[in-house]
Amino acid sequence: MARMKAIIDCDPGHDDAVAIVLAAKHFDLLGVTTVGGNAPLWRVTDNALRVLDLIGRPDIPVARGAAGPLMGSLPGVGQRVHGATGLDGADLPRSQRAVIPRNGVEFLIDTVMSNPGTVVIATGPLTNVALAMRQEPRFARSVARLSIMGGSATWGNVSAAAEFNVWADPEAAHIVFTSGAKLTMCGLDLTRQAAVGRETIAGFRGVGTRTAGVIADLLEFYRAASEGLTGSPTVPLHDPCAVAVLAAPELFEFRFGQVEVETRGEWTRGMTVVDRRRWESEEPGVGPVGNCRLATRVDAEGLFALVREALASCP
Ligand code: RIB
Ligand code: CA
Repeated sequence: MARMKAIIDCDPGHDDAVAIVLAAKHFDLLGVTTVGGNAPLWRVTDNALRVLDLIGRPDIPVARGAAGPLMGSLPGVGQRVHGATGLDGADLPRSQRAVIPRNGVEFLIDTVMSNPGTVVIATGPLTNVALAMRQEPRFARSVARLSIMGGSATWGNVSAAAEFNVWADPEAAHIVFTSGAKLTMCGLDLTRQAAVGRETIAGFRGVGTRTAGVIADLLEFYRAASEGLTGSPTVPLHDPCAVAVLAAPELFEFRFGQVEVETRGEWTRGMTVVDRRRWESEEPGVGPVGNCRLATRVDAEGLFALVREALASCP
């Protein structure tokens, strides 16, 4: 059976890098678009090229998208856990390849509109996706499914209320959550269930490929940096959840509900307000229950096995 076509829009980023590994394994990955987030746009774009070289996929095009949010400027907080380069902790050779001469937003639009059935996996701020929706009114309905790592049905990480990807561009997130697109949200309440510590990272390294060793080095850096900030010895594999939820939905449980993005609150700007009064455990039979399918549970060991399998398929 032909593999589902996908584009990953990301800000690599350590967990984005693992998401790229998973996406390249499970999808016909038509391209990678980048957005400023964990590090400045030029850094995350350079990192995307390096990761694709690492996994032996220089055939996958990379297109550079938005440098910052729709309003204001890019916050610098991402580099607190991802390092100055956005991907500190391992030696990934600079790529000899360049990005394609297409803007990432145009690439998203052209690729989705000319490849029916394509899914989009967004693991950074939603600026590119929102711009694509604004530029091409048919885009939102043309994306077969939009899987987002972002938001939270509980508390935040970059603030008490907000998760980083949504907080970095709340206006873009509002556009996406009100677009009518077929949304799947992997929020912090879910991704915190898929936290990795030294033992799980050692298990990734044990796969034995060069890619596995480099990814393990990267994740150990990410884990230690996160521990320095949070005190926890484990770090969530946020972005791979947004890939696995489409590649292996049997590992997840879902609810359906209404999610709104707060764009004005002094303490809550960037919060995803999830209306739990109308959780639905099954796809709604009739009537709109909400704008979003939320992944609420994950079989973390199943996800880690998926990562090991993907790492084993790399050089
Ligand atoms: O809040 C987690 C998200 O912020 C992840 O996408 C991670 O890469 C960072 O960008
Ligand atoms: Ca990310």
